[in-house]
Amino acid sequence: MRNRLVAGNWKMNKTPAQTDVFINRFLELVDSNHAAEILLLPPFTSLDWAGKLLAAVGISLGAQDLYFEPGGPFTGEISTEMLLACHCSYVLVGHSERRTILNENETLVNRKVLAATASGIRPILCVGETLTEHQQRKARERICFQLEHGLAGMDQQDAASVVIAYEPLWAIGTGETASAQAAQETINMIRKWLAVAYDDSLSRRIRILYGGSVNPENTAALLDQPDIDGVLVGGASLSPETFAQIANCAGQSAT
Ligand code: 13P
Repeated sequence: MRNRLVAGNWKMNKTPAQTDVFINRFLELVDSNHAAEILLLPPFTSLDWAGKLLAAVGISLGAQDLYFEPGGPFTGEISTEMLLACHCSYVLVGHSERRTILNENETLVNRKVLAATASGIRPILCVGETLTEHQQRKARERICFQLEHGLAGMDQQDAASVVIAYEPLWAIGTGETASAQAAQETINMIRKWLAVAYDDSLSRRIRILYGGSVNPENTAALLDQPDIDGVLVGGASLSPETFAQIANCAGQSAT
């Protein structure tokens, strides 16, 4: 049985002081016995503060990126050791904004996935097609390419710790969501790819999230789908009110 995961990717938003305000309000609003796992992904500068606040309340913490080297002359980069010191248990890898704006390629994404897993941090590997690929019906090809390269060199045991996030680029920050049925079809395709690349048991165990304009109104329909194990929320995770609505909805439909 896969445990639901509701992740809030704050992107480049919130100072430590704003993080403090968010968490305190969120804790007032979220069901105290929430059944889904809740994960916050603040910017690096808020991780330390968030880690201290979240440690005691059963909410997971993750980073939005990492660097694959353990340390050294890599100006501006952050290692897994640094993330672990802030109590991070997850890290996003290969988010489409990093792939497109910062030109992250498949080799770099793969190195980051491997480094995260080796350190005991669970990578959330982001995959998804562009609008053009979507219109040209090339989504499947793009996603399989990203999975093949992103997970290259991972054995069964390491792959079991990975979370996959399917985020179609045309749905990110646009208000346009893939229909629950379309998201289910693509995520089912990802699960089948995993069954062939690894085996059925691994494919059944790996959690696969949907991301792209998730909001309190569309969460239930997405989570009703058999292969969608959670949501990766951008804009709607910035408000404690809307993110708590999403987390509470996921908690209810998980029971
Ligand atoms: P939005 O929810 O703002 O569309 O962002 C999705 C996303 O990129 C989460 O990682």
